[in-house]
Amino acid sequence: MKKETIIILASSRSNGDTSKVVNQLQQVVDCDVVDLNDYEISYYDYGHANKDDDFLPLMKRIISDYQNIIFATPVYWYTMSGILKVFFDRISDLLTIEKDLGRQLRGKGFGALSCCMNGSVDEEFWHPFKKTAGYLGMNYIGNIHVDSLENIDVLKDFGNKITTL
Ligand SMILES: Cc1cc2nc3c(=O)[nH]c(=O)nc-3n(C[C@H](O)[C@H](O)[C@H](O)COP(=O)(O)O)c2cc1C
Repeated sequence: MKKETIIILASSRSNGDTSKVVNQLQQVVDCDVVDLNDYEISYYDYGHANKDDDFLPLMKRIISDYQNIIFATPVYWYTMSGILKVFFDRISDLLTIEKDLGRQLRGKGFGALSCCMNGSVDEEFWHPFKKTAGYLGMNYIGNIHVDSLENIDVLKDFGNKITTL
């Protein structure tokens, strides 16, 4: 059966803390994962010279196959990872050269997961996620910060939010 939810893993290491948390979330939500380290996605380019890299094919697949998109990032310098920021910047392609694709994001679920062992995040951390979801017309499912691999119950609550949409 087709899965409803995809997690976009955006850490600088594929088997690090964020990946472990994502694996735990997969135990409570039936979902697929894409690791952005497996894709060549370059910085936003106003001239779209990079339109043949991996961003657009990946987005086309995600938009056609999934209803909910969860962005999973470690905390790097008080904010999302650079990998995820580049990915968000490239969403601008969906407002310019691929507008039809961008419109298809409307109504989809948008969630955010941050990870930092032994640290917390302020409410401001979530601001770009909430504003991005709003701008794209997506439904903000919510966000979760994980600072330990021992609090699976927190992930269960977050997973319930996704599955009861
Ligand atoms: C470049 C970099 C910046 C970081 N910045 C912060 C930070 O601002 N606040 C914090 O609490 N931890 C910070 N950390 C620690 C990571 O958030 C933490 O180790 C996290 O669990 C790593 O997840 P990962 O294995 O998926 O990269 C930083 C780590 C790196 C590598």
